[in-house]
Amino acid sequence: MKKVYIETMGCQMNKSDTERMFGMLAHLDYEETKEPANADLLMINTCSIRQLSEDKAFSMLGTFGKWKNDGKNIKIGLCGCVAQQKAKEVFKRAPYVDFVLGTHKIYSLPEIIKAVNNGERVCECEETHATEDDKAAQFPINRVKSVNAWVSITEGCNNFCTYCIVPYTRGRERSRQPEIIIKEVKDALAQGFKEITLLGQNVDSYGKDFKERNYRLADLLREINSLEGNFRIRFVTSYPTDITDELINTVVELDKVCEYFHIPMQSGNSEVLKAMNRRYDRETYAKIVKKVRDMVPDVTITSDFIAGFPGETEEQFKDTLTAIDEFELDYSNVAAYSPREKTVAAKWVDKYIPEDVKDERFQRLNDKVKENCLKSNLKYVGRQMEILVESFYERKGQKINTGKTRNNKTVHVPFEKDLTGEFVNVKITGAKTWYLKGEII
Ligand code: SAH
Ligand code: SF4
Ligand code: F3S
Repeated sequence: MKKVYIETMGCQMNKSDTERMFGMLAHLDYEETKEPANADLLMINTCSIRQLSEDKAFSMLGTFGKWKNDGKNIKIGLCGCVAQQKAKEVFKRAPYVDFVLGTHKIYSLPEIIKAVNNGERVCECEETHATEDDKAAQFPINRVKSVNAWVSITEGCNNFCTYCIVPYTRGRERSRQPEIIIKEVKDALAQGFKEITLLGQNVDSYGKDFKERNYRLADLLREINSLEGNFRIRFVTSYPTDITDELINTVVELDKVCEYFHIPMQSGNSEVLKAMNRRYDRETYAKIVKKVRDMVPDVTITSDFIAGFPGETEEQFKDTLTAIDEFELDYSNVAAYSPREKTVAAKWVDKYIPEDVKDERFQRLNDKVKENCLKSNLKYVGRQMEILVESFYERKGQKINTGKTRNNKTVHVPFEKDLTGEFVNVKITGAKTWYLKGEII
């Protein structure tokens, strides 16, 4: 067996692609190694959401290149979002790279590896406009051993928010066929996974592109919910204005679908939202969050925000801080704005916010997120909740099981036995910023 090392950067989409790549490589007699220095084949599955992620990829690539130049017999591949965006340019910058594989053609990996092992150099970065579902079905997925299985339901994005590179690195939105998704879900359940998370940049637009059938996210949830077994269902990410009443009702009605929505707002100010090309203003977002909260008891709502978008004034930034409070957002990912090639906002150079101001806003945003996280966690002290245990470890002589509630709160439970993969009822005894403490009842 040859050995392959894959470094995975970025979001769950990439992690999911890596699992598929391992599945394909197993067919070619490659086994995974966690030690890059021991590998015959080195791959980096890259992310380009921010400049920093792209720089990280090239820096690691440089290390691998040095090994090769020092005489090591290795093959090197650059994959993922940076690869999709840079394509052949990569060879100029890093001549030791054997193949560049974009996000659209990951099912060409077996042919690419054969060619590369014959001494060829390959760049496969063309866009596909249909999903490569037939090919997908031919390869098993080597899922990372865990409790949760990620299943992508849509690829790409049509929204073109002015800061975001994803529509350029992942292409236009394509929904995968329900039959293929259900098969992947059944396989994951048969392998013992206890939670299925449906994945897409905008899951609520699932099925909009099906010409021959009327089948949407709510239909998919119903079908998965009807499968046998005790497991949970989640879905991310929701675009605010695409969340339908039918979807919210489905979450309420279906026993396996959890009370959790990730609804990125990006900014709390309506003018900034307009400049970002988000299709809602502050008031509209407020209405959506209120509706979800009114209809779904104990729902957790999380969000994403960007600090220092071009032209953002101090007053506009403060609207983001007040939004987190006003909408009682349970947790938010925050990022300082990073200009990305090809995107519209990157051209507004004269409106760029100075780095120090951006960093300071980023810090204040982080502090606000932490404050609200603790506030949100404190609401649950004294309550009884069901957790699905995800991991077991020992710290300072104490054995701890860590799991998630249906509404996606992390709970630490001291208990001698490893309960990973089990559903356990706990009483919440305390709250910290990032987790709850519980006792088994
Ligand atoms: N589809 C999701 C987001 C995917 S990208 C949505 O629409 O919300 C994940 C997050 O990265 C975004 O929500 C945004 O907050 C952040 N992000 C995207 N581009 C960025 C950029 N140029 N600079 C800083 N953060 C960015
Ligand atoms: Fe990027 Fe906007 Fe698409 Fe999300 S919805 S992936 S932020 S373009
Ligand atoms: Fe994901 Fe980064 Fe690509 S966030 S879609 S891996 S640019």
